[in-house]
Amino acid sequence: MTHQDLLAVAQEFGSPVYVYNASTMEAQYKRLQKAFKGVKQVKFNYAVKALSNISVLKLLNSFGCGMDTVSIQEVRLALEAGVAAQDIIYTPNGVSLKELEKARELGVQINIDNLSILEQFGTLYPKTPVCIRINPHVMAGGNTNISVGHIDSKFGISIHQLPHIQRIVKNTGMHINGVHMHTGSDILDIDVFLYASEILFETAKHFDNLEFIDFGSGFKVPYKQGDIETNVEEMGEKLTKRFNEFCADYGKELTLAFEPGKFLVSESGKFLVAVNVVKQTTSTVFAQVDSGFNHLIRPMLYNAQHEIENISNPHGRDRFYSVVGYICETDTFANNRRIAEITEGDILAFSNAGAYCFSMASNYNSRYRPAEVLWYKGKAHLIRKREIFEDLLANQVVAEL
Ligand SMILES: Cc1ncc(COP(=O)(O)O)c(C=O)c1O
Repeated sequence: MTHQDLLAVAQEFGSPVYVYNASTMEAQYKRLQKAFKGVKQVKFNYAVKALSNISVLKLLNSFGCGMDTVSIQEVRLALEAGVAAQDIIYTPNGVSLKELEKARELGVQINIDNLSILEQFGTLYPKTPVCIRINPHVMAGGNTNISVGHIDSKFGISIHQLPHIQRIVKNTGMHINGVHMHTGSDILDIDVFLYASEILFETAKHFDNLEFIDFGSGFKVPYKQGDIETNVEEMGEKLTKRFNEFCADYGKELTLAFEPGKFLVSESGKFLVAVNVVKQTTSTVFAQVDSGFNHLIRPMLYNAQHEIENISNPHGRDRFYSVVGYICETDTFANNRRIAEITEGDILAFSNAGAYCFSMASNYNSRYRPAEVLWYKGKAHLIRKREIFEDLLANQVVAEL
């Protein structure tokens, strides 16, 4: 998308607004497919939590993606988007048996990550195939909030509890059709990831009726020039070799599954905001925009970096700015950034705004959540309307006082 296209979107739909470029998502999907082309059966289940707009789910499904979901609501959104139940995996953490039963009724693949529910579910529904989520206790994944495979993490069943898993499986007669791990969201070192994969292969050997092995996700994308990213091609080459060897030993062609979120959608997204005020202080120049951490929380939540470009004046002289929002507490998008000279009313474009941006947005400060637009085949398609005042009132009940 050109600057002109982005400006036209901001003009037509107002700001702030999220814009997602469909062809970037497709290119990312194809890159994954190519990296793992040496495996006979591969499945990429898009992690819906990253960006759950049903038009995006529909688009990714049209490329061939299944869906990875973490709540029954995400399962329902995927079904609503037209995804077949058998193409949906449900990987919740710490949910009730009731929610798992609902997922079972909806016919999706269930992934269980604790012994208590495994035993209860296996006792009630021994014939329903279940995947188990293993915690390999390998530290990978960037910021501590997104590093989930280590020993203190609440996710998965500890690899040391394998004998207990086996006892439950034997006692209930349940059918384990998959094993899964997710080490964290930013794989920097492929060898660490491969080490964790060996633990998963080792686990897999203990189950006779597997259909797939799910390696989770963690494909890191670059956030700024020169940033490290997961070398998907190298990972593809190394894991393909190892996976095919494993299948030969196991005596069956299994499906290799992944559940990428960020990799598929992060770079497709731009978040467009308008500058309300340019404010000089004794130490900096603030560009105050018509948004805040209510719409894009990643910088405040885990110090994430989003490149910011002034698309109204892209060739202007670079100056230093702190870009901040309008929320009534510290609400910083970027500190001391070099950005082309800003005038009030200019439109700024944040990069990497596809993943964990809109999906984490809230109504804090009673602001409306932004509109979302899909840029598809050279045209802008509105895929979510900006909220209006009635949305804020929708579920409120006025007390009889
Ligand atoms: C179980 C699981 N799978 C997949 C993902 C997607 O990760 P990413 O967006 O880094 O690809 C996550 C992210 O939190 C996750 O918890």
